[in-house]
Amino acid sequence: MVPQLSKRALILQESAIRKLDLVVAQQTDTEFLRLNIGQPDVPTPQPMLDAMAAFQPEVVAYGPASGTMPCREAAANYMRRWCSDLGPFDVAVTTGGSEALLFAFTAICDPGDEIIVLEPYYTNYNGFATVAGAKIAPVPTPLADGFAIPSDDVLDGFVTDRTKAIVFSNPGNPTGGVYGREALIRLAEWAKRHNLFIISDEVYRRIWFTTPPTSMLELDAYADRVVVVDSLSKTWSACGVRLGFLVSRNAELMEKVERLGQARLGPQPLAQAVGIAALTMPESYYETVRSIYKSRVDALYGALKDVPGITTHKPEGAFYFMVDLPVDDAEAFARWLVTDFRDNGQSVVVAPGGGFYSEPSRGQTQIRLAAVISEDRLRRAGELLAKAIVQYGEQ
Ligand SMILES: Cc1ncc(COP(=O)(O)O)c(C=O)c1O
Repeated sequence: MVPQLSKRALILQESAIRKLDLVVAQQTDTEFLRLNIGQPDVPTPQPMLDAMAAFQPEVVAYGPASGTMPCREAAANYMRRWCSDLGPFDVAVTTGGSEALLFAFTAICDPGDEIIVLEPYYTNYNGFATVAGAKIAPVPTPLADGFAIPSDDVLDGFVTDRTKAIVFSNPGNPTGGVYGREALIRLAEWAKRHNLFIISDEVYRRIWFTTPPTSMLELDAYADRVVVVDSLSKTWSACGVRLGFLVSRNAELMEKVERLGQARLGPQPLAQAVGIAALTMPESYYETVRSIYKSRVDALYGALKDVPGITTHKPEGAFYFMVDLPVDDAEAFARWLVTDFRDNGQSVVVAPGGGFYSEPSRGQTQIRLAAVISEDRLRRAGELLAKAIVQYGEQ
């Protein structure tokens, strides 16, 4: 008899996005326009590539658990744009925003504790919560309401005596929503009333189109209960570098994060050298990134808005669209796009919406699209989707 694996391992969800990727890999002679993964095709800035090439130590050694001082200082300096009294000890360098989230969940939650999440939400919060032994408590924010944060009364209904934190991404993946100052102060006051930590996932902070998101770093009054997550992946188009940051002015929490970091020794020195180059990019770089994604989001929205039967919400930030389709099962539709639908040898890959809900049936008619390819290709992807919806309906 083979020994039984842990319950935590057994309940880990398979990523709906990765699952479809395996089917895509089996198709030959089709050109896929891939809108399913938030992997930007914007070139990684040259100074970061230069830093990578220049990294030639005699020995690639371990570094400190919370990151090298120059990297922590560069991160604190960068984040002083939002919070003037931030220092290097308020920043821990992590292996991507992913590890920062895992550390935050682990430092905050005991097994069985609950984390409120505004739903739909970034799928991997499920995995981090499972590993930390915590439970996700989803609060619906429907597409029809523009994904707005519900009233305090509604939020109150999701709090139990095990609730420890609320987590959200701002700008939002997969919603493309942006929370401003007023909405966040209300949410922070609500969290304070229930004595919760606030985990603000700001990996898309620099990608916004009309008004900037408010960073939780800006709201000093809540500093001791706030954890902010940032990452090189999206803003600096460097997903593969695997560098992120956990930022908090709660010294006790940072001390425990340091210990979590010690358990895995340290973040990669090469990634940190690249990180310093990223964090010292001129302000004009962020303007360029914003304008690239703005044009893309405009192009895809233009291609989608008049497609009969679909409902979507124009992203205010990040680069994702949640799209409600006139189909019974968006996952089956997404699979059919990959296996059956072709137009001039092309098809499109989308992420089934169910993966962004704790109960996949709540996203059963939805897909998520990522505007991470060129405008021309996004327009073509919109055209392909419109044709596919008609063809699928006629089957
Ligand atoms: C909202 C959100 N948070 C965190 C991450 C994790 O990013 P990384 O680990 O690459 O920094 C992602 C990646 O897509 C994301 O969309």
